[in-house]
Amino acid sequence: MEIKKIKVGVFGVGRGLDIAKNFMLLNAEIVAICDNHKGRREEAIKKLGKSVKDFENFDDFINYPMDAVILANNFYEHAEFAIKCFEKNIHVFCECLSNGTMGEGVKLIRAFEKSKSIYMLAENYPQMLHNREIKRVIDSGNLGEIMYAEAEYNHPVNPWYTYFTKKYKFYPEHWRHFLPKTYYITHSLGPVMYLTGATPKKVSAFAMFFPIKGDVPTASHNGDKASNITTLNDDGSVFRVTASSCFGAHNNSTRVCGTKGQIENLRGMGDQIMLRYNEWEKPENEPVEKLYTPSWNDKDEEIIKQSGHGGADYVTARMFLDCVDKGVQPPHPFDVYSATAMSSVGILAHRSVLDGGKVYEIPDFRKEEDRKLYENDFLTPFYSSKGDAPTIPCCSHTDYKPTEKQMKLYFKELEK
Ligand SMILES: NC(=O)c1ccc[n+]([C@@H]2O[C@H](COP(=O)([O-])OP(=O)(O)OC[C@H]3O[C@@H](n4cnc5c(N)ncnc54)[C@H](O)[C@@H]3O)[C@@H](O)[C@H]2O)c1
Repeated sequence: MEIKKIKVGVFGVGRGLDIAKNFMLLNAEIVAICDNHKGRREEAIKKLGKSVKDFENFDDFINYPMDAVILANNFYEHAEFAIKCFEKNIHVFCECLSNGTMGEGVKLIRAFEKSKSIYMLAENYPQMLHNREIKRVIDSGNLGEIMYAEAEYNHPVNPWYTYFTKKYKFYPEHWRHFLPKTYYITHSLGPVMYLTGATPKKVSAFAMFFPIKGDVPTASHNGDKASNITTLNDDGSVFRVTASSCFGAHNNSTRVCGTKGQIENLRGMGDQIMLRYNEWEKPENEPVEKLYTPSWNDKDEEIIKQSGHGGADYVTARMFLDCVDKGVQPPHPFDVYSATAMSSVGILAHRSVLDGGKVYEIPDFRKEEDRKLYENDFLTPFYSSKGDAPTIPCCSHTDYKPTEKQMKLYFKELEK
């Protein structure tokens, strides 16, 4: 695919730098970066070259001539900056939550509808090898009608892993210390929405409160290890997903069940896929059970294999640049309406956790009446980057906080 060269700016050069590398492999030119962390800016310029213009302030950065912006700033603060891009018809690649509050979801959609920008949720997990294979099998029709899908993004981290603390949790009000276990939803909900084509209409959730014990370095204000989130979808199917969870052992997994059979990747077993049919409904020439490692079958396979997140980063960047090249919005669930639906699931699942598992309706922000319900709702569990305090608790046990000793050890880790 020959993609026309476009000029791209990167906002937030932690994760943003990894994404920039994939864009460059695809003929995009990184012309500017923006980050208010001086050390990160310097590191980025070393890697990208001195011709890249660097900015500390978004409003200066966005005035630099660019066709598209990679939004890789704080997880929950993407909407306000996406809106500034829309006002200039600059395309947006948003990594990964589209909006951190319900009200910002409404604002995002209203601004998008006045703009000529292409907007893509930069959710990469659907493009992992196992998910691509599951999609191929679903699309063959062999599983029958899809009625259930589940996915986990399960990422326990050793609290004594100094590198992780310093790189990912580098100040006490950092968003990762206040992240409810339903918000980081796109790595699990993204895949099942992509694979099945369904969109959640209702959500309910319960958290697992098992706080970290003893004298370990942590500044986390969330003692929940995971939340089990259930959605009822627009096609009658059900999803069960975790957002970022820390239970059992590390895995990214997906399972999809149809009326005739099921497919899943085996947790902790590389890219292995288990495909099973009901004996009386299996397709001709297929075994009842099959355990196998799928292949990419992609013309860019060699580059994909070197790219981050099992190749998914490259494929996701390619999808966005292809959309920009063709002047079309990305497909479900990477378009702006699906993106806000995913955020709504993450945000309202947390309210369900705080409310004993109460069922919440997922609004459709295509509809003005649904926008009205949430246009003034800016409740947030996070500190804003301007220093405003959270307005709702981030944990199911609402008074939970780290001990003084844990905080002391955390600050010691930062000094290392
Ligand atoms: N898809 C994936 O696999 C994946 C992997 C890692 C991170 N992410 C996502 O990427 C995003 C960034 O993650 P991260 O780990 O780099 O987070 P981070 O908190 O380490 O980095 C955010 C960066 O943005 C800068 N920033 C924030 N607000 C700013 C402002 N107002 N002005 C200037 N600079 C500002 C910060 O200084 C920081 O360098 C998050 O949304 C995260 O969820 C996705």
